[in-house]
Amino acid sequence: MNVLQLKRFNLSVNVNEYPVKILDDITLSINKGKINTIIGESGCGKSLLCKSILKLLPVDSEYSGAILFNHHDKEYNLLADIDLQQVRGKIVSLLFQNPSSSLNPVLKCGSQIIDILPHNKKASKSSKIEFALDLLNEVSFQNPMEIFHKYPHELSGGEKQRFALALAIGCKPSLLIADEPLSSLDIDLKHNFIELIYKLKKIRKMTLLWVTHDLDFAQKFSDNVFVMYCGNIVESGTVQDVFENPSHPYTQALLNSFQSLKKDRPESIRGNISSFQNLPKGCNFYPRCDYKKSICTDTSPEYSEVSHGHIVKCYVQEK
Ligand SMILES: Nc1ncnc2c1ncn2[C@@H]1O[C@H](COP(=O)(O)OP(=O)(O)O)[C@@H](O)[C@H]1O
Ligand code: SF4
Ligand SMILES: [Mg+2]
Repeated sequence: MNVLQLKRFNLSVNVNEYPVKILDDITLSINKGKINTIIGESGCGKSLLCKSILKLLPVDSEYSGAILFNHHDKEYNLLADIDLQQVRGKIVSLLFQNPSSSLNPVLKCGSQIIDILPHNKKASKSSKIEFALDLLNEVSFQNPMEIFHKYPHELSGGEKQRFALALAIGCKPSLLIADEPLSSLDIDLKHNFIELIYKLKKIRKMTLLWVTHDLDFAQKFSDNVFVMYCGNIVESGTVQDVFENPSHPYTQALLNSFQSLKKDRPESIRGNISSFQNLPKGCNFYPRCDYKKSICTDTSPEYSEVSHGHIVKCYVQEK
């Protein structure tokens, strides 16, 4: 069953008073209870896509298309403020890329957790404290009372990230969006953190949409994968579809470049990602593509199906 659907979603942001299109015709569906992973180079629009789902858009953005969310047989239109208010931070929540920037520096951790407790005005003091300690315990703090009395700046990087996770899951969201949750952690903490999210996802029966640059983690901890390039989803499918039969030239180049990092001779993808202010006509990837045909430089390809549910936006795959 689909919980989240984006239909032909477009987003333009304001750069020096001119609209610049970043997200282009994003169409995707996310199934309940699955781990969905977005991969792609820096600057291709992954964070803006995550934020768009909760309408956390830059000032003066323009958008079109639809973002729909299903919960308990009700469909919410997340681009309509009246629906969004019922969903944001409650049914769908977002774990930001940099935990330091999302935490309130002047409130102790315990107070920050109590603030998210539903109906907290009516709750007794002891039940508020119990709620906070249970949540801290759930995100693997061995010393919840100590953390309760600390300010965010007194936490280590790994603790901050787990505290931010506690805030994100406090209202028992049905969908957790996590934007590069591993990027500020060292390799051991990365393992611990992703295993923690994985465990919580199972216990709480959440759906997860996350962004990572680490393709080993993506392969190990995903059901479905979305590959982004220059504001487009260029390939999507199950983790096996994308990692074992990568069918878009960009996905092939991305996987190849990641694999080469483990060898002595790292190979980056030829050329650079195009500027959104000056995107090529036709397929965005053609300046870097070894398989381009004449049509690629003229008209952008549509989505086509390589196999059931394995979707690619490339002329090479069109039948
Ligand atoms: N608030 C903003 N205003 C203008 N441009 C933005 C804003 N946020 C992001 N961008 C631009 O949108 C593009 C995609 O950014 P982002 O979604 O952060 O990429 P990613 O997360 O894939 O690294 C980049 O070119 C970035 O400069
Ligand atoms: S549409 Fe053409 S240029 Fe774009 S990725 Fe496919 S082959 Fe390459
Ligand atoms: Mg980002």
